[in-house]
This record gives sequence, C-alpha cells and structure tokens, in this order.
Amino acid sequence: MRIERNLGMDLVRATEAAALRSGRWMGRGDKIGADQAAVDAMRYALDSVPMNGVVVIGEGEKDEAPMLYIGERVGSGDGPEVDIAVDPVEGTTLLAEGMPGAIAVIAVAERGALHNWQGIAYMNKLAVGERAKGVIDINAPVAYNIRAVARTLSKQIEDVTVVVLDRPRHTQLIREIRETGARIKLILHGDVSAGIMTAIDSPPADILMGIGGAPEAVITAAALKCLNGEVQCKIWPRNDEERARMTELQLSEKQIYTVKDLVRGENVYLAATGITPGEFLRGTEYFGGGARTHSVVMRSRSGTVRYIDATHRWDKLMRISNMPYGD
Ligand code: FBP
Repeated sequence: MRIERNLGMDLVRATEAAALRSGRWMGRGDKIGADQAAVDAMRYALDSVPMNGVVVIGEGEKDEAPMLYIGERVGSGDGPEVDIAVDPVEGTTLLAEGMPGAIAVIAVAERGALHNWQGIAYMNKLAVGERAKGVIDINAPVAYNIRAVARTLSKQIEDVTVVVLDRPRHTQLIREIRETGARIKLILHGDVSAGIMTAIDSPPADILMGIGGAPEAVITAAALKCLNGEVQCKIWPRNDEERARMTELQLSEKQIYTVKDLVRGENVYLAATGITPGEFLRGTEYFGGGARTHSVVMRSRSGTVRYIDATHRWDKLMRISNMPYGD
C-alpha cells in the first residue's frame, strides 16, 4: 500500500502565504486591509493545491465577496473532490490592533462533509480535548461540566481553566464559572484557537464555553476531529428575525451538533499559521529579506499533528511566485 498524500502539507503553504502577507498589517488599525491581504495570498496559493475544492465556509456569499466566496471552486482541479472552510484571518480585530492570537486557518474534508451552516450567525459551544471527551453535556449546568472535566483530568476544580470570549452575553456564564472556583481565560476574539487550545499537548485551557460564530464552530470541529477532542454546539439566535429564519430552515434551538454532525468526513485536514503571537502558534516574524512562520498541520485519518517552523526568503519566493512579498 502506498502512503497516501497528506493534503495538509500543501494547505499549509496557503495559510503561510496568508500570514506572511497579512502579518504586515499588524496594529495598523485596518481590519479590511489586513483581511484583504490574507484573502489575496490564500486564494493565490490555493490554486496550486492538488484538489478539486468548493468553498463551504468562506468570506461570504458570492455577491458580498470577490474571492473565497461560498461555492467558489478552488485548487488545481485535478485532485480529490473536497469541501473547504477558510478563515484567512481568524481574529481580524486582534491583527488590526496588534494583539495576540490571530491565525490563518483552513480545514478540508471530503465533498459534502462540512456542515452547511446556512447563514446561521452564532452557536453556543462546549469543547474539550481527548482526555475529557465523553464527560461533557451542553444541556447540563456549567458547574456539572466543570466538575466532570476536573474529575476526569484528576484536577482540583481550582486548577481547571475555562476559556470564554469576553462578551456582555457571557456575564451569567462567567458568574457561574466563578462560583465553581475554576480559572477563567477571557479572550477578546478567536474561539477557533481557543477550541484547539483545549486539545493540544500541554493544553493552555481545559474547556471552551460560550457563544461564538457558527462558521468558526465547523472549523473548530474539524480541528477537534483531528485531535480526537469533542465539541457540542447549539444554535443561538440573537433575535426574532433569526428565530424566524430557523423555523423556515426547520432548525431547532434544542438540536445538539457534535463533531460528527459538523464534519461528517473521515479524512479531514487542518492547517493553521500564527499571524500575531499566540498561545499555541508563534506569530509571523519578519527579518531583513524574509520572514519566519509557525504552523500546525493535522490529519484526522492518521492522527498526525505536525508543527512547522518555516523560513521564507523574499528574493527566492518572488522568482517563483506573483505575490509581492518583498522589494
Ligand atoms: P473574525 O475572525 O471574523 O474577526 O472573528 C473573530 C471571532 O472572535 C471568532 O473567533 C468568534 O467566533 C466570533 O468572532 C465572535 O463573534 P462576536 O465578535 O460577534 O462576538
């Protein structure tokens, strides 16, 4: 049997390209410019990835986004038929404000495998790594989940770390976590990174709790599928309009989405590159004539997780690429 090609090794070049180009926008206060730089670079790099991809999660509907729009075909066209979820900058505000934790990320799975989130904006999420898999229940009280995770990790509750987006909608959640005595890591943005953080080696957090973007839930599920973690989500409508849309789509607030609902495939790849310095990926560092990137590549079928330190030289890159990396 021949060793199968690991598409993740090709995808990481696209997340590196996005990080290299958008990292230059760090702290410039321009979210749109930063995102555009990442989108252009990622889109360009994806053309050489040997796949026949369709964007399922991207920059928006076709009429809203010129590139990486939902339904766009990407890849060289002569590889496997796949679904692709892209977030060229996860945490655009973090990047624009020069704060830690912005990443470029791509998830790929077999055609039809990635959940079509149908324009749903938010989901309530509960995610853990492999060691706490099977003990959580999104319908149970906050304290129940924290106690269950503490028990299974053989930790005292005071040593369990819960990562939560810092939002007014989480006031009650934060109060309930504090009442248990658990530690809280409040983050400004980036709950994909936060979900991944619960499932890597030496995890900086044990549980992700709270409401964040629905497309991000699918990317988080792809990562947790590779890392053998668990995520449970429920749609969280903000208002009557969103409730009406759910009724139209025959969706229920009670339905629990797990990894296997959000990512139905068995061959899932995820690649991510740090843009600003974060807790599990270093940021892109520029030196005279080039830059260094730090990435992770995962594949569900093999369970392999690779961290890649790469050095990029503008002079050489510019000879083989149309991307204006350097002078
Ligand atoms: P962007 O990458 O689009 O900036 O999203 C960042 C993010 O923090 C996500 O990680 C999270 O799921 C979502 O926004 C939360 O949405 P909101 O900022 O509206 O609470």
